[in-house]
Amino acid sequence: MLVKTKELYQKAQKEGYAVGAFNVSTLEAIKAIIKAAVRLRAPVVIETSEKEMGFLEPALVFDIVKELGEKISIPIGLHLDHGKSLERVKEAIQAGYTSVHIDGSTLAYDDNVKITKAVVEFAQTKGITVEGELGKIVGSSEKHQETITISQDFLTDPEEAKRFVAETGLDILAVSLGNIHGVYASEPKLDFERLAQLQKLGLPMSLHGGSGIPADQIKRAINLGITKVNVNTELRLAYTETLRTELAAHPDEIVPYEFLPEEIEAIEDVVEQKIKLFGSECRA
Ligand code: 13P
Repeated sequence: MLVKTKELYQKAQKEGYAVGAFNVSTLEAIKAIIKAAVRLRAPVVIETSEKEMGFLEPALVFDIVKELGEKISIPIGLHLDHGKSLERVKEAIQAGYTSVHIDGSTLAYDDNVKITKAVVEFAQTKGITVEGELGKIVGSSEKHQETITISQDFLTDPEEAKRFVAETGLDILAVSLGNIHGVYASEPKLDFERLAQLQKLGLPMSLHGGSGIPADQIKRAINLGITKVNVNTELRLAYTETLRTELAAHPDEIVPYEFLPEEIEAIEDVVEQKIKLFGSECRA
């Protein structure tokens, strides 16, 4: 069933695990996430970036998730990931999304407060959960060859975060601790001292860039208050690598339902591993 994500995060915060938030841009990915969530009895968030939402159409994503979600008792949140404007946030909410992320992290602090506050005012009257972001999380959800260095200025400042939370009234904060979107040649190293300071805010926190972060760092981050982990690149890799292999092995196959089940299974396997790592198995 489709639920408000705030309830999912509050339960996760109380019980010490994290909810997996998985990006989708195909029906196969939606099916795979729901199948894995049902099998493991795990609450999940299905999310689309602005581009993914544009490709799939927000109303269609909502209809599919609602239709598939209604048949099961597992709680599912539907979330806009990295909304950059009030217009796109409104579009998602009007389509039926239960949760939105307003990403004002590239703006000056005051402008970030202004746009986040405007989204909170619009969304919270409708019971929609709002995620805000402070500090910059760099990179895109792709496989990169290069090593990436993150400037200290990009990391979330705990004092500034305290003000940001008070001034905006958001429900969950996306933090920058050395996490990056995508998979890089070098492993990210999360700043746990910073996270321990941020945990004192008492607010649910989200960790973006969940692909490629070693399991021990993910577990430690969850122990220090991370309640939502976003994963995209590893799902994209599972899908496209399986598709390439399948089509290369069966070059004459033209019937999608003959080869797409393999891609669904590949995504399902990644989602299953993540749910287990995040400790959200049997929490539904
Ligand atoms: P990855 O692509 O690194 O998994 O990050 C996903 C994400 O954070 C979406 O907002």
